[in-house]
Amino acid sequence: MEKLIVNGGTPLRGKVQISGMKNAALPIIIASLLTEDVCVIENLPAIIDVSLALNIMERMGCRIRMLSADTVEIDSRGAVGGITPVELVSQMRASTYFMGAELGRWNESKVGYPGGCDFGVRAIDQHIKAFEALGAEVSVDGGYVRSKAAGGLRGTSIYFDVVTVGGTINAMLASVKAKGTTVIENAAHEPHIVDTANFLNTCGAHITGAGTDTIKIRGVEKLHGCTYAIIPDMIEAGTYMIAAAATSGALLISNVIPKHLESISAKLEEMGVLIEEYDDSVYVTRSGKLNHVNVKTLPYPGFPTDMQPQMGVLMCLADGMSYLSETVIENRFKYVNELQRMGANIRVTGHTAIFDGGAPLTGAKVRAVDLRAGAALVIAGLTIPGITEISEIDHIERGYENIVGKLTNVGADIRKVIFSDSLAADEA
Ligand code: EPU
Repeated sequence: MEKLIVNGGTPLRGKVQISGMKNAALPIIIASLLTEDVCVIENLPAIIDVSLALNIMERMGCRIRMLSADTVEIDSRGAVGGITPVELVSQMRASTYFMGAELGRWNESKVGYPGGCDFGVRAIDQHIKAFEALGAEVSVDGGYVRSKAAGGLRGTSIYFDVVTVGGTINAMLASVKAKGTTVIENAAHEPHIVDTANFLNTCGAHITGAGTDTIKIRGVEKLHGCTYAIIPDMIEAGTYMIAAAATSGALLISNVIPKHLESISAKLEEMGVLIEEYDDSVYVTRSGKLNHVNVKTLPYPGFPTDMQPQMGVLMCLADGMSYLSETVIENRFKYVNELQRMGANIRVTGHTAIFDGGAPLTGAKVRAVDLRAGAALVIAGLTIPGITEISEIDHIERGYENIVGKLTNVGADIRKVIFSDSLAADEA
């Protein structure tokens, strides 16, 4: 049982270096299975989900060697399909990528049902639709998703009914070595889709159009290993941008691609935050009051759902009424209860949270109900002169590399403490 203790009220000042992107690292690690060769992946974030993915790969028979803190060598020549451990795959949503990668390599796949942040229903019907279109028979039974393309996978046309990041990536993984050409329509545009396609192309794939509505994949017989560096994590960067704004601080956030941050920067500027863009960094400062603002989450290049809870904290601090509408994920307002514990005035109706901002927040004992919710509570705590205690922090560590160290370096008073189970039970 670990908790974060945040004693806030100090503006953050200094420089934060952003790590590689979680949601690109995970599909790229898993995509390396398709190469049946040795891949070196650089700029890997040191987070729980990456360790989990590497652990699953190792259990499948891959040889994993850390060449440095952020570089891994994956030799997938000896990998075996159909044996991913259920207790591990059930811990993260990105496990779905083992389905596409196994199918692409062995024409069949057996993977336990994926887990991840609890946002209510997280369907995989579009993934299944893509596998079926490519010629696989798919069944879900006994907690497993099984796919088999007895006659091999064949290029096809796939139209997604919803814009899905995971579905788009899985369709690319399954079709990259299929016979013929696959066209994905209504594809997701996120930078991690482009990064995964770039990785596969570096390994010899023929993928064009990644980053647009239509992705074309001309199947190739073989892929080969490569050395590839993951793009910076735009959500980690956005989280520190909001931390700077929330604490009236000044942060230089480096190792970013400013273009990926445009929707976040635009909203922060509307709120009165100053942002200077450089080639691979952004400087974020706030000195005046925060203006209220309305935000609707949308697939990229719209405002990311993964920044929604962090933006909610800023809305608590802004004067007046702000409206935050969630259009991507079914149920992503669980953190609202936790912010209410800190004195926030928020009402949720349907898919919109209405923030009556401006009242000071107060320190409380709160739970990191999911990954981005946890990051939002850290930011809230950083604004409060007094103690905020955040439990269930493994959610935060699934996606943020060394968050305590990075925040401490820029002046935050935050530490991780270990509670014994009995102490935790006394408190419950
Ligand atoms: N959907 C379906 N059917 C499907 C797939 C998705 O109805 O077969 C729906 C989902 O229920 C959801 C919407 O489509 O309402 C979008 O889901 P998507 O498939 O795009 O999301 P995902 O692949 O499950 C990834 C990220 C999430 C991020 C979303 C949206 C990874 C590992 N996860 O999830 O990241 O919120 O895209 O951008 O890449 C996070 O990092 O905190 C996180 C939750």
